[in-house]
Amino acid sequence: MASYIAAIDQGTTSTRCMIFDHAGSVVAVNQKEHRQLFPKAGWVEHDPLEIWNNVRQVCAGALAKADLVSSDIAACGITNQRETTVVWEKATGKPVYNAIVWQDTRTDEIVSELGAKEGQNRFQAKTGLPLATYFSGPKVKWLLDNVEGIRERAEKGELLFGNMDTWVLWNCTGGPDGGLHVTDPTNASRTLLMDLATLQWDPDICAEIGVPMSMLPEIRSSSEVYGQFRERGVFAGIPIAGILGDQQAATFGQACLSPGEAKNTYGTGNFVLLNTGTERVISQNGLLTTVGYKIGDNDTIYCLEGSIAVTGSLVQWLRDNLGMIGSAPEIEQVASSVDDNGGAYFVPAFSGLFAPHWRSDARGAIVGLTRYVNRGHLARAVLEATAFQTREVIEAMNADSGVPLKSLKVDGGMVVNELLMQFQADILGVPVIRPKVNETTALGAAYAAGLAVGFWESEADIRSNWAKDKQWDPAMTQELREKQYANWQKAVTKTFDWVE
Ligand code: G3P
Repeated sequence: MASYIAAIDQGTTSTRCMIFDHAGSVVAVNQKEHRQLFPKAGWVEHDPLEIWNNVRQVCAGALAKADLVSSDIAACGITNQRETTVVWEKATGKPVYNAIVWQDTRTDEIVSELGAKEGQNRFQAKTGLPLATYFSGPKVKWLLDNVEGIRERAEKGELLFGNMDTWVLWNCTGGPDGGLHVTDPTNASRTLLMDLATLQWDPDICAEIGVPMSMLPEIRSSSEVYGQFRERGVFAGIPIAGILGDQQAATFGQACLSPGEAKNTYGTGNFVLLNTGTERVISQNGLLTTVGYKIGDNDTIYCLEGSIAVTGSLVQWLRDNLGMIGSAPEIEQVASSVDDNGGAYFVPAFSGLFAPHWRSDARGAIVGLTRYVNRGHLARAVLEATAFQTREVIEAMNADSGVPLKSLKVDGGMVVNELLMQFQADILGVPVIRPKVNETTALGAAYAAGLAVGFWESEADIRSNWAKDKQWDPAMTQELREKQYANWQKAVTKTFDWVE
């Protein structure tokens, strides 16, 4: 009997393969970064073939590190950066253009035009989403309108659309030679094209946005055997049995399995997801309604989501664009050289502002500067931006659900930063809790795959595998907390109306 489960995590900055045992502990990890392409201000692209090549390499690398062979792996799950859009030729597997990344704002005009008559929320009741540059549907339209000759080819059925889950699955299962063109409802719910109630593509919205349905993948559940890795490469024959968008995977991996449970992942951006059970709560406060997971034939579980575009990537920006720190972890040391932000607030509206504002006209700003402000204060303002943005979406969540959150489970790269975690608890006024296995995204995808093949029996196994590592309790006075948050809110207003 195979004793391990693998997961491929195709993220915004890197691709990794992880192998887990039955206790949900990490046995091996292999990771490779890919290039971030910025052809113009506001444009962000990835090379899909580079990413596919990385998928193959990290799978081989993880297996070798764990000293295992394919037959030791019971199943593999896929998790992925969501919304990022690829269109490729069915006959050859050749992408017609680079992948347009979720952070990309080139669809600004398309989105404004679509919202001109009936408003930004015209598709919200069906899709759970506002019209925004973030989602895939308008990105597909941009490709079809701007890459010569491809609309006609798409209409003839020669081209396929997929998010990264579909791109990876199609290639793993044979590519042009019978590759599966499939997605799951968590990814499909980020396209603006899927009806949340039926989990099917909505023909009216597809027609309205201008996306031919022939290019869309089949929507299957998040946990079932879709097919096997083809008889080539290291994972040959392993069943692929789970697909979850990365934030939903982290929610699952954090065992947020009952209504009212929430997690916050600190990655390139931050994403807070609150499990609302089988109820689709349509937000009145700027949050998204999204599919949380659908395990086989079980009921669909929905979430409210607060998506924040720029958090960890602001630290990278400080490192790469300003050279202010030598490595990302160094920010903690620089920020710890001072006691507070010195009055400076940094609103990183690089891709406009996502939840709860949805302002594509916003651009980044640093406010409150005086000659007193130094490198340490700025580093602190960078970290604090993540915590303030998180508070904004938690407040929206509390307002939508009517039940204030009592604690917040956290995961992702930045949760090793003690200064940030303490400030997060301070600014929220509730405890922040980190689990022992912080790799919740890959773990969530592994759980989805493992449940499908009987490696884990039920969601109860996921709960019993979850264990607390550390908790930060609020230590700031109420007065200071509210004063700083009010300053942040004022700073946010300074970023509006920068783009016509
Ligand atoms: O919606 C975008 C999100 O899925 C990206 O996550 O972790 O790749 O930055 P990450």
